[in-house]
Amino acid sequence: MALAEHEGVTDGLEGIVAAATRLSHVDGEAGQLILAGYAVEDLAPHASFEEVAYLFLHGRVPAPAERAAFAQDLARRRALPPAVIEVLREAAAAQTPPMDALRMAAAILSLGRPGTPLDDALTAIASFPAAVGVYWRLRRGETPVPIRCDLPHAAHYLHQLSGAEPPPERARALETYLNTVSDHGLNASTFAARVIVSTQSDLFSAITGAVGALKGPLHGGAPGPALDLVFEIGAPERAEAVIRARLDRGERLMGFGHRVYRVRDPRADVLAQAAERFYAGGGDGRLYDLARKVEATALRLLREYKPDRRLDTNVEFYTALLLHGLGLPAELFTPTFAAGRVVGWAAHCLEQLRDGRLIRPQSHYAGPVGLHYHRAPAGVAS
Ligand code: COA
Repeated sequence: MALAEHEGVTDGLEGIVAAATRLSHVDGEAGQLILAGYAVEDLAPHASFEEVAYLFLHGRVPAPAERAAFAQDLARRRALPPAVIEVLREAAAAQTPPMDALRMAAAILSLGRPGTPLDDALTAIASFPAAVGVYWRLRRGETPVPIRCDLPHAAHYLHQLSGAEPPPERARALETYLNTVSDHGLNASTFAARVIVSTQSDLFSAITGAVGALKGPLHGGAPGPALDLVFEIGAPERAEAVIRARLDRGERLMGFGHRVYRVRDPRADVLAQAAERFYAGGGDGRLYDLARKVEATALRLLREYKPDRRLDTNVEFYTALLLHGLGLPAELFTPTFAAGRVVGWAAHCLEQLRDGRLIRPQSHYAGPVGLHYHRAPAGVAS
C-alpha cells in the first residue's frame, strides 16, 4: 500500500484547512482570487506594488501621504549588506542557480539589522530586487547597478537588472505581475513560512525556507519549462504533435493544472491581458499568437488524456510569456516570482506571529515494529 493511502492520512494535505487568514482567498471552483478584499483582476493591474504591499502588511490601502512615506521607507531599505554582496559574488563565480543564490542571500539579509518583525518584513520585500539584480549582473560579469531611491519598486527591479530606467509600460507590466502573484492562500511556500514562524522563529528564517519551497517545478519553477514548450513547438502546426508526444510519455505540461483551481486560474487571465497589451505595443506578436495556440491545444489534449481531472491553464503559462516579453531570461522567472510573493510570505508571517499557534500535525506510522537491535561485532563485515 502506498504510504499516502493509510487511513487518516490526507495525501498532500489536499482540502485540509490549516489556517484562517485575512490575506487572500482562493476559490478553486469559481476561479476567483481575492487579495485582502479585492478581486485580483481589480487590484493587480491598477494598484502600485507599494500600495499592494501596504495593503497586505496593514490591512487597508494607504492614504496618499501614507503611500508616499511607505514607498520612501521601502526605498531606503534597498541597499544590501556588504556580506550579502560577497555571498552573491561567490555564488555567481560558482554559477549557482539564481534561486539558490537568492536563498543564500535571504538567509543573511538580517546581518547587522536588528528590527521588529515588521522591520524584517519591509527589509525583505525591499531587498529582493537588489539581491536578484546584483546576482544576475555578477553572474554575467557585469558590475552591479548602484541602488536608486527615486524609482518606484517595480521600475527599480528592472533598473537593477539592466542599468537603464524602464519605460512606464514595462514597469507597469512588471508591477501587474508582482501584484498578481503577491499572495495565494496557503500555497506550499507560504505554508512553509507559516510553519517556521509558528515556532516563534524570525521572518528571515521563514522567508529563506519559503524561497526553497518556491524553487521546485511543482510550485514556482514551472514558467521556464512552460516557455521551453512554446519554443520547442515553434510553429502552430506542430503544437498537437509535440504536446501529444509529451503526454504519451506520461510527462506533465508545465503551466497547466492546479491543486486548488478546477477552472482557469484567474491570475492567468490578468497576466494574459497584460501580455496581450504588452505584445501589442511592439513585442513579438508571433510568439504571443503561438502561445495562445499552444494553450488551446494543450487544454484540448489534457481533456482527452485526463478526462477525469479538470486541468486548466495556471498562472505560470502567462508568467513565462509576460516576463519573456519584458526581456527577462527564463532563469530569472522564479526569482521574480519570489520578488512578488515575498509580500505574501511576510504578511502571513506577521499574521501567524499575531494570531497563530504552533503548527504541529501528526503522522501515521507505517513502519515495522518489534525489531530487535543487535550490534555486529567489530571487524565483521555486515
Ligand atoms: N500535465 C499533465 N497531467 C497533469 C498535469 C499537467 N500539468 N497536472 C496534473 N496532471 C495529472 C497527473 O498526472 C495526475 O494524473 P493521474 O491521476 O492519471 O496520475 C492527475 O492529473 C492529478 O495530478 P496530481 O499530481 O494529483 O495533482 P496535484 O493537485 O498534486 O498537482 C500540480 C497540482 C500543480 C502540481 C500539477 O497540476 C502539475 O504538476 N502541474 C504542472 C506544474 C505547474 O504548472 N506548476 C505550477 C503550479 S501554479
